[in-house]
Amino acid sequence: MSSATTVFHPVTEAVTRPRELERLVTGQATSDGAGVKLTRVLTQPLQRRLDPFLMLDAFGTDNADDYVGGFPDHPHRGFETVTYMIAGRMRHRDNAGHEGLLQNGGVQWMTAGRGIVHSELPEQQAGRMEGFQLWLNLPAERKLADPWYRDIQSDEIPEFTTDDGSTVRVIAGESHGVAGAMQREVTQPLYLDVHLAPGARFDQVLPATHNAFVYVYRGEVEVGGATVGSQRMAILKNGAERDGIVLQAGDAPAKVLIIAGRPLNEPIAQYGPFVMNTHEQIFQAVEDYRSGKFGG
Ligand code: CO
Repeated sequence: MSSATTVFHPVTEAVTRPRELERLVTGQATSDGAGVKLTRVLTQPLQRRLDPFLMLDAFGTDNADDYVGGFPDHPHRGFETVTYMIAGRMRHRDNAGHEGLLQNGGVQWMTAGRGIVHSELPEQQAGRMEGFQLWLNLPAERKLADPWYRDIQSDEIPEFTTDDGSTVRVIAGESHGVAGAMQREVTQPLYLDVHLAPGARFDQVLPATHNAFVYVYRGEVEVGGATVGSQRMAILKNGAERDGIVLQAGDAPAKVLIIAGRPLNEPIAQYGPFVMNTHEQIFQAVEDYRSGKFGG
């Protein structure tokens, strides 16, 4: 983070009618890939409510047994994966010959589109591994687009400091006049990693129609009239009269992801790593994968 792009005088945005808490969510402990332990925070029953987001997994451990297996070759179709690495190193390889190293503070943004087969394997045998994987849906007309990805190094993520000493990393969307590393026209995702200083307040304006949630991964924060503790997701109420989100730190620092986006309002059909609009498209995805038609 020390070498990140820092903007010293961002536009100050104030929220006057902040969104209220709708619901607190505790993730579900699970494992995926070759035995990687993780917490599924945004689960399938919340996909409609948090449209265009389909999944959020959080992983964080000092125990190599929890992650060394990694995620061997597996397919995806119909959406984008956004992997944000807080600590640790993970190597990505796909069946089209692309390869990249994802490490400390970096993001990999992958558009699976019509299909990709890839592996995500830890490049360390010990030490801390911590991060998040978010699944962002693609609009119907983009589900079979060409696969694409971008490795965004930590120092390529725009970052600014607020007057009261908080640091904001803008992974996607825009905050206080600072454009994020990624933009998506249809879903307009906002993805911020906010490091709140003790006692600091952070305002983020947001269109009323966008679905929004925050995930606290260090400390605790007040948002929407409730105190949200570590490893908790707060879903925030939509409402025509609400103009954004306000985070308020207590006496200790806190780290919080703010994630919001414009809903697609399209049917969601999911079978494991395939997310399409209809069951027929899912059958087609399975058939195409089995017959080797993914990428390559
Ligand atoms: Co994957």
